[in-house]
Amino acid sequence: MEIGSESADRDWWRHAVVYQVYPRSFADSNGDGIGDLPGVTSRVPYLARLGIDAVWLSPFYPSALADGGYDVDDYRDVDPRLGTLADFDDLVGALKAEGIRVVIDIVPNHTSNRHAWFREALASPQGSPARDRYHFRDGRGPDGSTPPADWECGFGGLMWTQVPDGQWYLHIHAAEQPDLNWDNAEVRDDFLTTLRFWADRGVAGFRVDVAHMLAKDLPDDLPSDAQMAQMGPGAHPLFDRDDVHDVYAQWRTVFEAYDPPLTAVAEAWVLPERRGRYASQGGLGQAFNFDLLRANWDAAEFRQIIDRNLRLAATAGSSSTWVLSNHDVVRHATRYGLAQGTPEHPQDGRDWLLAGGPEVVLDRELGIRRARAGVLLLLALPGSTYLYQGEELGLHEVGDIPKEFRQDPTYVRTAGADPGRDGCRVPLPWTRSGTSFGFGTGSAHLPQPPWFGESSVEVEDGVEGSTLELYRRALAVRRELTADTSFEWHASGGSVLHFERPGGWHCVTNLATEPAPLPPGEVMIASVDLAEAGVLPPDATVWILTGP
Ligand code: GLC
Ligand code: CA
Repeated sequence: MEIGSESADRDWWRHAVVYQVYPRSFADSNGDGIGDLPGVTSRVPYLARLGIDAVWLSPFYPSALADGGYDVDDYRDVDPRLGTLADFDDLVGALKAEGIRVVIDIVPNHTSNRHAWFREALASPQGSPARDRYHFRDGRGPDGSTPPADWECGFGGLMWTQVPDGQWYLHIHAAEQPDLNWDNAEVRDDFLTTLRFWADRGVAGFRVDVAHMLAKDLPDDLPSDAQMAQMGPGAHPLFDRDDVHDVYAQWRTVFEAYDPPLTAVAEAWVLPERRGRYASQGGLGQAFNFDLLRANWDAAEFRQIIDRNLRLAATAGSSSTWVLSNHDVVRHATRYGLAQGTPEHPQDGRDWLLAGGPEVVLDRELGIRRARAGVLLLLALPGSTYLYQGEELGLHEVGDIPKEFRQDPTYVRTAGADPGRDGCRVPLPWTRSGTSFGFGTGSAHLPQPPWFGESSVEVEDGVEGSTLELYRRALAVRRELTADTSFEWHASGGSVLHFERPGGWHCVTNLATEPAPLPPGEVMIASVDLAEAGVLPPDATVWILTGP
C-alpha cells in the first residue's frame, strides 16, 4: 500500500485504526530504561503486522516529565533521552514504508515552566510582553499574598502559583504547566509554525491535547470555584468557550495547505452535544468520544452511546471515534473485570486502585473476555478506532506500583489520594522473561510486575486464540470489509447488540449472562471459542457474514 498516491486519500482518517504509542513505555533501544524513538522504529514490523493505519505518538518533546511529557520545553525538538530529529525522520520513514501514517500529540494549552517563553516571562517585568504570553495576575489582599482565585486544580492544589516578584500565574494542570494566553498573537503564530514544522517532516495529523481549554476569559473580578461550577459551556472562563474555535479555524488553513490535508483529533472533555464544534470540517475535523470508555458493560448504555455518536459525528460532517483505553485511564481489561454484576461498577477503576488492587474484586479473566468482545464491537462500528499500546495483548492495569516509583503528578500533588495514571503506562512486555521483559536491556522506568511476561508479545505471537492474534485478524478482516458507513440495528433480545454493516457484515455482542442465539451465516471472527454452533456465549462478540 502506498500513501498519498491519490488526493482522494484526504479521507483516510474517517475509518482509520490509530494505535497510540506512549514512547517512553514502548521499547527502549539503548538500555537506559526509557523507551525511545529508535525503539519504536525497531518495532515497526510489529506495528505493520498488527495492521493499523496510523500511529499516534504521545509527546516525545524535551521535557522534565513533570506530567509524562505533556509539559513541553520545546515544541520543535525531540527529548535527547528519546532520540533526535533524525531519529524522528527515520521512524516516520519506516512507518510510511509500511503504509502507516503518523499523528503526533500537540500540547497547545500550556508549555512547561522550562520553556524559553516562561523563563523569559519570569525574567521580565510585570506587564511586559513576555508575561503577556501567559496569564499572570496580581494576588489579592493588601500584600497580594492571596491567590487571584480559589480555583482548585484537577491534579491537586490550586491553579495559581506565585513567582518571586509576587505575581501569580495560572496553570490548569501541574504548576510546571503554565497556561498560555491564546489572545496573544505571538502564541497563535508560533503554533502555526509548529504545525508546519512537523507537517513538513511528514506528519499526517495531530492529536490536540485538552483542545477545549485554550480560550480563556479572565475578567478583573475572577469568579470563585463555586460560581464557576454553575457556569455552563460558553460562559465558563476556562473550558469549552466558543471563541476557542477561532484558533482551530486558523489551524484549518494550515491543514488545507497540504495534500492530503493534515488531520486533527481533539481531546475535548465536553458535553457530547458540543463535541461537533471541535469535529467540524472547518476546525479540527474529528474529536474523541470517550463515552464508551466511561460506560458500564451494559447493552442499553452502549446502544445509546453508539446511536448518539453516529448522529453527532454525521451532523458535524465528521466520523465518530471509538476509544476504550488511553494513557489517562485504567486499562479496560481491568475496568471490565471489576466488581462484576454490581450496578456501582466503578467505571474508571480508580476505586480499585485506591483500595490497592486487591485481587478479590478483580476478575482478570472476565476483564479480558469483555475487553476482547468490546474491541470487536468497536472495530465493527463506522468511524475510527483508537487503540492504546498493550491492549492488543489483553494487558491489565498495574495497580500496585510502589509509592517510590510513581511518577504521575496527580498522585504526587494529591499526596496519593488520586492513584494516578502510572498503572497504564508501565513499559510493554515483549518477551516472556528477561530484563524488563524485552522492553530493553535495562530495568524499565516503571516497574513491571511478574505477571507481565504472560501477556507478552512472545507468548501471544502466532498462538491461535491469543488476544494479539484476535486483533491482527480483526484488523485484517475490517480492512477488507469497510466500504461505506451504513449501519443498521437488528432487533435482538435485551442485552444482545446486533448490527449490520455493508456487504452483509453482522456484528453481534452478548452482554447478557445467558447464551444468545446467533443469526445464520459464516463466522469470520469471534472473541471466544464458539463451542456450540449458532450460540453466542455471554461477554462475547462475533462477526458473521451473510453474503450479498
Ligand atoms: C491531557 C493528556 C494528559 C495530560 C493533560 C495535561 O488530558 O492526555 O495526559 O496530563 O492533558 O496536558
Ligand atoms: Ca532509551
